Amino acid sequence: MSCTEKQGQPRKVVIVGAGDVGASFAYALLQNGAAESIVLIDARKEQAEGQALDLSHGLPFVPTAVVRAGSAADYADAAVIVITAGAKQKPGESRLNLLKRNAHIVGQIMGEVTARDSRAVVVIASNPVDVLTFVALKQTGWPRNRIIGSGTVLDSARFRHLLSAHCGVDVRNVHAYILGEHGDSEVPIWSMTNLAGMSMDDFCPACHKCGDWNLERDLIVTQVRDSAYHIIEAKGSTCYAIGLALVRIVGAILRNEHSVLTVSTLLEGEYGLQDVCLSVPCILSQSGVERIIEGKLTEGEKQALHLSTTVLKERLNELKNAGE
Ligand SMILES: NC(=O)c1ccc[n+]([C@@H]2O[C@H](COP(=O)([O-])OP(=O)(O)OC[C@H]3O[C@@H](n4cnc5c(N)ncnc54)[C@H](O)[C@@H]3O)[C@@H](O)[C@H]2O)c1
Repeated sequence: MSCTEKQGQPRKVVIVGAGDVGASFAYALLQNGAAESIVLIDARKEQAEGQALDLSHGLPFVPTAVVRAGSAADYADAAVIVITAGAKQKPGESRLNLLKRNAHIVGQIMGEVTARDSRAVVVIASNPVDVLTFVALKQTGWPRNRIIGSGTVLDSARFRHLLSAHCGVDVRNVHAYILGEHGDSEVPIWSMTNLAGMSMDDFCPACHKCGDWNLERDLIVTQVRDSAYHIIEAKGSTCYAIGLALVRIVGAILRNEHSVLTVSTLLEGEYGLQDVCLSVPCILSQSGVERIIEGKLTEGEKQALHLSTTVLKERLNELKNAGE
């Protein structure tokens, strides 16, 4: 039995939430060719139908695939289910109330997924992604490898892009990781960052491109952390880079690539942390998170990761208390 037969219909990807993120992901996935079948589901049925129709008109220009709108029945034989469904913040609405509404949405979707006895790997992109990944895992009782948050894959990409532009080195030769929360407490891991194998501490003094490279590093980290705010201020939402990041994650699962990506996963003692979902380097294969890579962090990085955990656990507690 092949890997995709074991998990569901060969390379069938179901996208729940056909808004900006869901549609951008579908558009990028179609061009990538990793999926044979792309199904869009949305609470607003016409939204999913419209997006599917629009995308399907591009089929003559992309690798062979089928695109259509679907329903909960499609969870049964999906290989990967990607959740991008989310409520938007209402004027005056508290962060906690939005969190409650999004937790409810993800809970409802996961209820339908489990009712269909799906064997898919679930990838959650809806925010706050770390909290929602934890909620989905606790609700279903599924093993941690099968429910993954997109986590800081996007943040790590932003980090790599900014370092590439700053240092004048092809982004493909820049290896850099943001760990922790997908949010304000995220942690840049300079000790794991390298340009073509050369650590930043070796590269910067030899480069002479910038004067005070410690200051430049701080500026880059701030830019990474605030990227989403700037884009949302400028155009309302972010969608293209997260769409591509999701293609990278889902492609690694469908193709059993064993790629290392900073997805959000449940920690069970790794990095000295547990009972929280946050991003660490993970090996992704057909089964989802196959293994967590426990890199050696500096004391400062360890402390920052612990702080990020505290922030996330506070949010989980707020959600728990709000539900009582
Ligand atoms: N993880 C990341 O890096 C990242 C990046 C960007 C956006 N996001 C998040 O992705 C989510 C979607 O963002 P967007 O800009 O596409 O929003 P959007 O409003 O454009 O789309 C959300 C869609 O979800 C649908 N929906 C709501 N409840 C549903 C349900 N129960 N079942 C099915 N569909 C449902 C809505 O009808 C809507 O079409 C948000 O939570 C956003 O914060 C995450």
